[in-house]
Amino acid sequence: MLKSISINRLNTLPEHSFYLEYENDLLTLKHSDSALTLCVDFNSHDIQNRIKPNTAKLDLIKAIEGKGKDKLSILDMTAGLGQDSFSLAARGHTIDAIEQNPYVFLLLKDGLQRAQNDINLSETAQRISLYFANSTHFNHAHQVDKYDVIYLDPMFPERTKTAKVKKNMQLLHELVGIDDESNILLFEQAKALSPKKIVVKRPRLGDFIDHQKPTSQVTGKSSRFDVYAC
Ligand SMILES: C[S@@+](CC[C@H](N)C(=O)[O-])C[C@H]1O[C@@H](n2cnc3c(N)ncnc32)[C@H](O)[C@@H]1O
Repeated sequence: MLKSISINRLNTLPEHSFYLEYENDLLTLKHSDSALTLCVDFNSHDIQNRIKPNTAKLDLIKAIEGKGKDKLSILDMTAGLGQDSFSLAARGHTIDAIEQNPYVFLLLKDGLQRAQNDINLSETAQRISLYFANSTHFNHAHQVDKYDVIYLDPMFPERTKTAKVKKNMQLLHELVGIDDESNILLFEQAKALSPKKIVVKRPRLGDFIDHQKPTSQVTGKSSRFDVYAC
């Protein structure tokens, strides 16, 4: 089921809370008690480094594509700021991306809209369909057997050395929080949709989701991709 968002326009800054600011064609998430900000820009160095043709294959791509060469239909059940969806779309795959947090959804929608109007990014952006919904409630009856791969990247527990967490991710952690029970529900929903495989991103040394051992793994410096063949 898709959700709707009601937006209140403010004339003064709110106290002790998150808010969105729209300035110079860019939507930014801010918090009245913090200097950190968050926006989605697919032209950023970070994203461009991830998708440029001569970049070494990302672990995400290795886990999702395996040895196959086909263009895949992928459901990203935890779209977040869309970095992973965009990296996959840049490889020619088609993505349905779902995000449940209204602030995060609006940031990603804004980034995708700007990318669709950018001659260098539009082809990739158009391969992503974004939905505002809780993935565990999404219109699943129509989605069974639709996807080759379902991807889950639930929030990680914060690292103890917080200085290592990227600044913008600190804001996302504070905004979204971590809900292990909902992560297990996500995994169950993913299985109910009968994809060919499910890929779950985890901290490098983190537990398996729902204690279920994957078929294979791609392990990087700080994170790990658990692959479940279905
Ligand atoms: C770690 S972030 C994902 C980052 C993303 N892979 C990227 O590349 O930017 C996790 C996101 O999943 C979203 N999320 C968690 N549970 C969800 C659910 N049940 N349905 C939809 N989105 C969910 C959170 O709101 C959060 O934005």
